Amino acid sequence: MIIFLKNAKVLSKSCDGMFDLLLNNGIIEKIFSCEDTPDSLVYDECIDLNGKTLIPGIIDMHVHLREPGYEYKETIESGLKAAVKGGVTTVGVMPNTDPVIDNEYLVEYLKMKSELYGLSEILPIGAVTKKSQGVELAPMINMAKRGAIAFSDDGNPVENAHIMLKALEYYKMTNRPIINHAEVKELSKTGFMREGEYSNFYGIYGIPSVAESIMVARDIELAKYTDAHVHIAHVSTQESLNLIKNAKKDGVKVSCEVTHNHLIFTDKDLKDYSTSFKVNPPLADEESRNTFIQALKDDLIDIIVTDHAPHADYEKEVEFQNAPNGISGLDTLLSSLLKLSIEEDISLKKLIEKVTYYPTRIFNLEKKGDIKEGYFADLVILNENETWNVNNKTVFSKGKNTPFMGMDLPGVVEYTFIKGKKVYSKEDVLV
Ligand code: NCD
Ligand code: ZN
Repeated sequence: MIIFLKNAKVLSKSCDGMFDLLLNNGIIEKIFSCEDTPDSLVYDECIDLNGKTLIPGIIDMHVHLREPGYEYKETIESGLKAAVKGGVTTVGVMPNTDPVIDNEYLVEYLKMKSELYGLSEILPIGAVTKKSQGVELAPMINMAKRGAIAFSDDGNPVENAHIMLKALEYYKMTNRPIINHAEVKELSKTGFMREGEYSNFYGIYGIPSVAESIMVARDIELAKYTDAHVHIAHVSTQESLNLIKNAKKDGVKVSCEVTHNHLIFTDKDLKDYSTSFKVNPPLADEESRNTFIQALKDDLIDIIVTDHAPHADYEKEVEFQNAPNGISGLDTLLSSLLKLSIEEDISLKKLIEKVTYYPTRIFNLEKKGDIKEGYFADLVILNENETWNVNNKTVFSKGKNTPFMGMDLPGVVEYTFIKGKKVYSKEDVLV
């Protein structure tokens, strides 16, 4: 199947401007400047973008798909449908399911499911410890051999420093980073939102920011000692960023991510005690949020992720203290990047690179994350000028727990291609 995409406003790491693309057999075969395209091209289908935006398929490296075990929150299929609708073509999937993805057979199960649906590609993230209990290391080498892209006990921190040290030592054999959810539970367990002015004001027990940064400091020391790659999940404090900045200067193999929610919302937004804003780590204050935006511009923050954490309505419709942590995010990631580029002084190109090009650098992904000849034709046609309303119908994820609920957001995905195959088309769904 040969597809010709013409008059595309391409936005990617190495390609920026008006181009025509020829996709052949799942690969971007040729990229022409619009005026240089030969008349003699032969193709099966032509889509004229008329100047609409074309970006590489988004790579979201922090996603909870809930299957196996919590299908009532999300199934792999419902999660991937939300992904392709949101322009996300590759998902790094966290292992906190039931059973936990802590052996090679379960890694294979996820790979098999990925092929079965033919939607976004699943990159399984294996558990660091058996059942993510933090006691005994999981078989990381076997999991890496069968396709685990990284290791994490996300949802739980790796609390035991000895276990973390041992896990990092495996880096030499697996070449896969350890992603840690940095949280000192002794400091966080009595709180429900970020400690500060607004936790006092709203009367909700707070979580001090050092609950995160103390463990980030430990992980950096351990990564330095073992010369291994640690990736800090969902960074949410200025203290953590300072530590990461210094460690990067010292040549420590540390990388980090921020969620789109932490770039847009703050602790102040908890005014109505809506549990859709309850997430771990908690939303930060406005000053910190501004630091995150600056840290993206400076490339101190490597990538943006959703930390897509869908929950059932009945689980979230309880008192703030009793609600589970988590925000559903696959539907809203791309639109929130557009919103940020409009409202903050940060270019859309930079933001798109943070969800396409940079994840490929951190996780050693080949032929993805850029629009280049020879790369996989994972592509998203985006109408930047259209808006959509976030509601129960337009959110494809089973998890409707999003703080964007009710808002009008910029940016509508018209088509999503994965390896040259059209896996989503706006025309085919009633939104
Ligand atoms: C995540 C979940 O629900 O699995 N929740 C969350 O608030 N982020 C777990 C996690 O990423 O820590
Ligand atoms: Zn986490």
